[in-house]
Amino acid sequence: MERATAQRTAPTGFDVAELRTEFPILARRLGPHPLVYLDSAATAQKPRAVIEAVSRFYSEGNASVARGVHRLSGEATAAYEGARAAVARFLGAANPAQVAFVRGTTEAINLLAATLAERVEAGDEILVTRLDHHSNFVPWQRLASQRGARFVIAECDEEGELPLAEVEGKLSGRTRIVALPHVSNALGTVLPVSEIAARAHAAGALVVVDGAQGAPHLPLAVEALDVDAYAFSGHKTYGPTGIGALWLSPRLARELPPYQTGGGMIRTVGDETTDFAEAPQRFEAGTPAAAEAVGLAAAVEWMARVGIEAIAAHETALAEHAVARLESLDGVRVVGRPARRAGVLSFVVEGAHPHDVGTVLDAAGVAVRAGHHCAQPLMRRLGLPATVRASFAAFNTVEEVETLARAVERARDLFRGGRG
Ligand SMILES: Cc1ncc(COP(=O)(O)O)c(C=O)c1O
Repeated sequence: MERATAQRTAPTGFDVAELRTEFPILARRLGPHPLVYLDSAATAQKPRAVIEAVSRFYSEGNASVARGVHRLSGEATAAYEGARAAVARFLGAANPAQVAFVRGTTEAINLLAATLAERVEAGDEILVTRLDHHSNFVPWQRLASQRGARFVIAECDEEGELPLAEVEGKLSGRTRIVALPHVSNALGTVLPVSEIAARAHAAGALVVVDGAQGAPHLPLAVEALDVDAYAFSGHKTYGPTGIGALWLSPRLARELPPYQTGGGMIRTVGDETTDFAEAPQRFEAGTPAAAEAVGLAAAVEWMARVGIEAIAAHETALAEHAVARLESLDGVRVVGRPARRAGVLSFVVEGAHPHDVGTVLDAAGVAVRAGHHCAQPLMRRLGLPATVRASFAAFNTVEEVETLARAVERARDLFRGGRG
């Protein structure tokens, strides 16, 4: 009875069954099984509001942004800038001019690594964390190697936490940049970003946050976090692929040089030199992804309508329920025990490779991610080649967690040579 109630209504109030009807893809069946989509950390499914906003832009308002004098171009520009304002609201940012559209988190971090390069000198340090996704690890590792800087890693503990003392111990007077995730994509750990930022700033470093898993799972107030840059991907927040946003502090928005150059990011182009536009246009060379931006705005507005706090509470409750169910299964181990977890968890099944577990789950209609989750440095620390990851979204139910647990139990039995 309690379980059935939890299924229908999320802890702080939205009706999950009703909300699921907004996602056309959830009507799909995989053979005899209904689709149980537990891979939103890779990419989230899209509600009709997003699909229709993109379709409407192409059907009724398509034109190049900020290029033409004709009416459609004016409307497209207004829609694109309106989308920027919506994303700024979602981030809790007062000034949309500090929000640049990018292709996603990966591009945002590469933009930062390229435009901060000149601030890093030989002997300086760049501090990342053991919990970082390759997207917030490799660009900094490469930058450090190119500039002769030290690449330093703050280690996580067995529970998948990043102790503040570890960060403090790894900061030095030479630390120029601290890069960290808001939420670990592999373990679900929510990092104490503002506490880390305060320490990094005291050491004189800039703080870059990979919000790819923060934006879908947590209410954001980016200015209160007191960081210098915050990046996220639209496709993980129920929006389209090919679009994301990078929020920059007023100082970085003012000071960073262009990343790519070309059309749309200039004031005047002389024969010898070019005068670049202010932020955010300075970071948006080329024809903007207007339909994708409009779709992203529809996505974050959809999240706000459902209630971001409610989504976060719902996903955390599902993740906690999943942890309890999986840990009750002999031979199944949940990896990491963060004190604060967003809607993501990793587990392993004794004697079975995660890819094989993922394949058995797929046969039961359950879509999970199996692999290193673009977090090989973390997998090395955990002594694991890979894990199975289940990640939750607003549309998931307790019943789906039960389906997951039953399928994992079957996989365990199969690889134990039991029931098969
Ligand atoms: C924590 C984290 N950072 C960065 C990324 C990269 O995002 P994108 O591929 O959208 O650029 C991901 C995607 O899985 C992620 O989970």
